[in-house]
Amino acid sequence: MKLWRCQICGDPYLGEERPKNCPFCGAHERYMVLQSDFDNRIGKVEGLSETSKANLEAALELEIDNTRFYACAARKSAEDEARNLFKTLSKIESEHASVISKALGIPKPPIEEADICTGDYQKNLAESHRREERAIRRYGQFLSEAEEPRVQEIFSALVAIESDHLSLSEERMR
Ligand SMILES: [Fe+2]
Ligand SMILES: [Fe+2]
Repeated sequence: MKLWRCQICGDPYLGEERPKNCPFCGAHERYMVLQSDFDNRIGKVEGLSETSKANLEAALELEIDNTRFYACAARKSAEDEARNLFKTLSKIESEHASVISKALGIPKPPIEEADICTGDYQKNLAESHRREERAIRRYGQFLSEAEEPRVQEIFSALVAIESDHLSLSEERMR
């Protein structure tokens, strides 16, 4: 058994094989490294430009909003598949909010329950699709504006993860 670490969220994972995705934040395989190779760059990014600071703050708001949407969709879903899909997406988006808060050097804001979804699976999938598209578009922009290597790394990883989420809803929408 080996101890792996995720270079995006820093969370540890025990397993024989390198996971295809971080089980916590969804980062792709290339970000999963052995503990002995882990380079700790998880915390506050020093000397953030005004642009990167504003972009990270906007991303944090977006992640919190998506965490609340998916938590709502999980609560209101009657079907097991829908409930678990939205539950796991909510946890991943919450992990993204943690990563961004750490980069900003601030405590993670509380994430309150909100009534911002329906109980209809197809409608929630369509809303998920809209939200993930928005995240990908904005993070692509933020990535192009970032000068700090860690900020570039975060937005690049997030674009890939949210793109995975987009295909999740695409496979299920009718
Ligand atoms: Fe991770
Ligand atoms: Fe996210």
